[in-house]
Amino acid sequence: MPDGSSSDAFVAFERVQKSYDGENLVVKDLNLSMPKGEFLTMLGPSGSGKTTCLMMLAGFETATHGEILLDGRPINNIPPHKRGIGMVFQNYALFPHMTVAENLSFPLEVRKMGKSDREAKVKRALDMVQMGAFGGRRPAQLSGGQQQRIALARALVFEPELVLMDEPLGALDKQLREHMQFEITRLAHDLGITTVYVTHDQTEALTMSDRVAVFDDGRIQQLDPPDTLYEGPKNSFVAQFIGENNTLEGVVTEMSGDKCVVKLDDGELIDAKPVNVSAVGDRTRVSIRPERVEFNKERLQDGAHTLKAEVLEFIYMGDIFRTRLRVAGNDEFIVKTRNAPDQVRLQPGQQIEIGWLPQDCRALDA
Ligand SMILES: Nc1ncnc2c1ncn2[C@@H]1O[C@H](COP(=O)(O)OP(=O)(O)OP(=O)(O)O)[C@@H](O)[C@H]1O
Ligand SMILES: [Mg+2]
Repeated sequence: MPDGSSSDAFVAFERVQKSYDGENLVVKDLNLSMPKGEFLTMLGPSGSGKTTCLMMLAGFETATHGEILLDGRPINNIPPHKRGIGMVFQNYALFPHMTVAENLSFPLEVRKMGKSDREAKVKRALDMVQMGAFGGRRPAQLSGGQQQRIALARALVFEPELVLMDEPLGALDKQLREHMQFEITRLAHDLGITTVYVTHDQTEALTMSDRVAVFDDGRIQQLDPPDTLYEGPKNSFVAQFIGENNTLEGVVTEMSGDKCVVKLDDGELIDAKPVNVSAVGDRTRVSIRPERVEFNKERLQDGAHTLKAEVLEFIYMGDIFRTRLRVAGNDEFIVKTRNAPDQVRLQPGQQIEIGWLPQDCRALDA
């Protein structure tokens, strides 16, 4: 079923466009449908329209064109208090005149929950974000990261069906951030909460999500589960944006089924898989992950093209070795190898030959 046409989706964007000034579209043609309980992350550069999409889904902004449906109903027809959406804004937006505990209790009072239930839920939510001792403070008496955790607890305390989170962990240190990533995904899955999560951090996106939507220029460039996204980028933008990536430019000279040969700009030939090229003569940018580059020729297929490379730098990183090469005029070509007992440590100045399986090298748009 194509995205956006699903009638049983819990959240659906159908051909949504948004302009703030009546002239420029900041969201251009958004189609997205999420089943109940899905954890979806929007990932993309600053200004690509992520917050705008969350604001429209929350009902705080209206779409210029198209429709946003929540459980089959247009969001604008559902009164705010009946939307059942928990939200963590990019700027926290805690109530400054209330204590931490009052901030958390508020969404429960609105829902007419009794005092003892409220106290139990507030305590549990504060413990989840490791802020149990701070219930009596006001937001202004907290650090940025502490305010962020309270905002997160407040969005989850009433166990909403849908949670929208905009960079909810941006102000936290690495250890706390990883702990909260784990807590958020565990809670979302345990309670069956549908989550739309926004982050700049691609590792966070890959580790937390059922699917990731990569945004650029007001459009979803690719929407896929993390492994498909990382291993099968559909265009050069996604290949560059997700994970580390080596790029070489050239022209397609042979094409047969799921294999092609690309003549690089310096004249050398390489094997690739045609993904976003259609014919011999097309210019292409080929994309290969650093961990898929082979310099042990025994592991290559018979007849595979190889490329000459010069080792420029060897970096020992503990679990892996990261080696920088000069390949076809590119001085930033990276190879990653696992630190195994029989692994070769390449030395700067060494001349080697590299290659890969054609399916690991993707010929994309130039
Ligand atoms: N209220 C507004 N009025 C006018 N333009 C706006 C408004 N809010 C956002 N924009 C513009 O819309 C575009 C998308 O903004 P948005 O906040 O959705 O980006 P984003 O992907 O969330 O970026 P970031 O990662 O920096 O938070 C930007 O060019 C921004 O300047
Ligand atoms: Mg934003």
